[in-house]
Amino acid sequence: MTNDTTDTPVAERLAGTNAGIVERHDLNETLSIVRVRPDNGRIPDFKPGQFVTLGLPKPLTPAIAARLAGRPGVVPMVRRAYSVASSPRETDTLELFVVLIETGKLTPLLWRRDFPNRVFLEDVAKGEFTLDSVPDGQNLVMISTGTGIAPFVSMLRTYRGQNRWRQLVIINGVRRVSDLGYRAELEAVSREDPTVRYVPIVSRPDAGGWDRLCGRVQVMLDDTLCQEHAGLCLDPRSCHVFLCGNPAMIDEMELLLQKRGFRTHTAQTPGNIHFERYW
Ligand SMILES: Cc1cc2nc3c(=O)[nH]c(=O)nc-3n(C[C@H](O)[C@H](O)[C@H](O)COP(=O)(O)OP(=O)(O)OC[C@H]3O[C@@H](n4cnc5c(N)ncnc54)[C@H](O)[C@@H]3O)c2cc1C
Ligand SMILES: NC(=O)c1ccc[n+]([C@@H]2O[C@H](COP(=O)([O-])OP(=O)(O)OC[C@H]3O[C@@H](n4cnc5c(N)ncnc54)[C@H](OP(=O)(O)O)[C@@H]3O)[C@@H](O)[C@H]2O)c1
Repeated sequence: MTNDTTDTPVAERLAGTNAGIVERHDLNETLSIVRVRPDNGRIPDFKPGQFVTLGLPKPLTPAIAARLAGRPGVVPMVRRAYSVASSPRETDTLELFVVLIETGKLTPLLWRRDFPNRVFLEDVAKGEFTLDSVPDGQNLVMISTGTGIAPFVSMLRTYRGQNRWRQLVIINGVRRVSDLGYRAELEAVSREDPTVRYVPIVSRPDAGGWDRLCGRVQVMLDDTLCQEHAGLCLDPRSCHVFLCGNPAMIDEMELLLQKRGFRTHTAQTPGNIHFERYW
């Protein structure tokens, strides 16, 4: 949590909100898993891989107050997209995995000590980053940086045990070991379910604190390493690759995969590279 206090009165910070943050688990000082429950009890319909929009009233600066003068009921909001990590089978709350961006507009508000645990939740979920275009029984390789793992957690929680894939590999590249969200759950599923592999990769491990894969997710393009850790190779004849998170990672991986014969999926041209950019 940051040490800020706000000069915006509580009533104004609650204006326009329609949902509560009913649970929060902090992985470290910059990462949280939160659960959001709409006041009307109805979470938006969504498919695994889709995102919802959260909003918070903008802090009331004199400039905003002046613009709002004479417009009662207008609440300017900062709105941002968040991939849903929970399964649509859970119908009373949505789980989201959020990182604090100190220089951002919305997330510093969520990390204030005096944050009232109220948000605006748009009532529709959106996005094409789903398994809709992928037939059953393929190898699915889901590659993320940071919080980009969230949609893959939703897909795993929803489709596991339904023969939706031959092999599912969930790769998550993060800076520090403590940034590995859902690690315990993914390790447990990997142990129990021979069709699922979890491959965590840490780019800036503390000295001596990590004896597994180091570096960035691109290391998985090495066939020997990929075979050893994922149990398969990135082969365009048998894999669909899903990329989520940092757009620089997506651009780099897309080029490298295209060189191997993968094709980017679009509505017009079916392909086996699918992506969701977070900024
Ligand atoms: C479809 C979609 C789904 C998203 N899902 C998630 C999610 O599940 N969890 C989540 O934390 N964010 C997610 N984001 C990003 C999110 O919408 C916000 O941008 C983020 O929470 C920061 O908001 P902000 O207003 O504080 O900063 P912003 O002004 O929005 O961002 C400032 C800068 O922070 C960096 N940044 C933004 N988001 C991230 C991130 N997730 N990881 C690392 N750096 C980042 C970028 O450099 C960006 O330019 C998603 C974005 C999109 C488009
Ligand atoms: N996580 C932290 O320890 C930490 C601490 C303080 C502040 N922050 C701030 O929090 C925000 C989010 O940080 P984040 O760590 O969640 O997200 P991030 O900066 O997107 O990094 C997540 C992972 O993606 C890797 N990455 C970055 N560019 C890549 C590329 N082109 N190809 C492949 N992998 C790439 C990073 O490796 P590299 O490490 O090699 O870049 C890291 O392993 C940032 O604004 C950051 O400044 C983070």
